[in-house]
This record gives sequence, structure tokens and C-alpha cells, in this order.
Amino acid sequence: MPKNLNNLKTIVRRPQDCSDKMKEEFIRLVAEGGEAEENRVRLSLPYTETLIFTGVGNHIYGVGALLRPRINFIQHLFQCAGEPQMANPHSVESCWISVSIRHRGKGVWRHNNAAKEEFLGNRPYHSLRRVDNKNVSDPAKEKIYIHVGKDFYSPISKDKLRLIAANHDPIFNPKKTFVYM
Ligand SMILES: CC(C)(COP(=O)(O)OP(=O)(O)OC[C@H]1O[C@@H](n2cnc3c(N)ncnc32)[C@H](O)[C@@H]1OP(=O)(O)O)[C@@H](O)C(=O)NCCC(=O)NCCS
Repeated sequence: MPKNLNNLKTIVRRPQDCSDKMKEEFIRLVAEGGEAEENRVRLSLPYTETLIFTGVGNHIYGVGALLRPRINFIQHLFQCAGEPQMANPHSVESCWISVSIRHRGKGVWRHNNAAKEEFLGNRPYHSLRRVDNKNVSDPAKEKIYIHVGKDFYSPISKDKLRLIAANHDPIFNPKKTFVYM
């Protein structure tokens, strides 16, 4: 089993606070992961809440992002999964996770994910994954996410999709207030 990299550092930064070089590196790494369309990432990047970079020194090895999707889209996802009552309009979407092929299996994602969890605290968030993506689809390895409803097909992808969520109540309660960290 390969050893985890030492001296990993993760930074969580708003897109407007990132240099052009960082943003280009982000797009390049997501494209290398092959799970998101490069053009869509380029167009949506300025509207993300935060970009999350993990690396050593000035070298970026892995990235992830947090988006604030439109409420309609959140409702669509939970509807597709068969749990419309769970849809929380405040849910943040965790997406565009990718680690460069050379640096996989060395704890880069784990580091990136830990920073994301700390940043989000108890805010509700969700993620959409291809069921066939073996890198991320083992439910036994999930610690925080729960599997929402049933896997489904949707017009946004030809692949079967899985919705996972954290800090969600089984029925969204609009009166509940959240303590943001
Ligand atoms: C998925 C990916 C980001 C993992 O990056 P990585 O840096 O190699 O991962 P790490 O070395 O930090 O290891 C992650 C750990 O999380 C585990 N893990 C956590 N949740 C998991 C899940 N749901 N399914 C499978 N493994 C999971 C892994 O098994 C591994 O633990 P282990 O070493 O004890 O086996 C990387 O393979 C990648 O970039 N893939 C292509 C893009 C992609 O699939 N992105 C996800 C889109 S949703």
C-alpha cells in the first residue's frame, strides 16, 4: 500500500481570490479526472462558493469545489432519488473532486475532504456520483454521507447516478436554523 504524502496542505479559497494560474491548474486537474466536462467547469468556476486545493509547497495535486446550486436543481436531484421531502434549499454541492493520476492513492483526497468537512461544519451538503465510478462508490467507506433514496437516471447524464447527502434531515424543516461554523 503506498504511503500517504507528507507535508500536504489544503487551502479553501473563493474563486475571486485565486490567481489565474491557480484557476487554470484547477481546470486542468478536473479535466484529468475525467468526471466533469472541461467547458462547463470553466464557465461555472467563477460562480462557485469555494475552490479547494491540496498539494505540497506550490504544487497542486488535487482539487474539489463547493457550489450553491439553484433551488430547482436541488429539488430535481432529491426528486430523482425518490426523496423530494429531503430537499434542503440551503444544501451546498460538493463537486469536481480530482487528484492527478500521479498522486492518487496517497491521501490527497482524504486531506482535501477533511478541509472541506471542517469548512462546511454542520451545513447541509450533497454530492452526485456515477454509480460505476469505483473510486468513490463504495458505501462501506463513507463516514459522513448517507445514500439518498435510490440510484437513478436523469437527463443530465447517460450514467446511473447516486445522490449522497450530509447534515440533512429526513424531512426538510424550513423553521430549523443552522449554526454556521
Ligand atoms: C477519487 C479520487 C479523487 C481519490 O483520490 P486519492 O487522492 O487517490 O484518494 P486517497 O488516496 O485520499 O484515498 C481516499 C480514501 O478514501 C477511500 N474512500 C472514501 N470514500 C470512498 C468511497 N465512497 N468509495 C471508495 N473509496 C472511498 C478510499 O478507498 C481511500 O481509502 P484507503 O486508502 O483506505 O483505501 C481520485 O481517484 C480521482 O481523482 N479520480 C478521478 C476523478 C473522480 O472520480 N472524482 C470523483 C468524482 S465524484
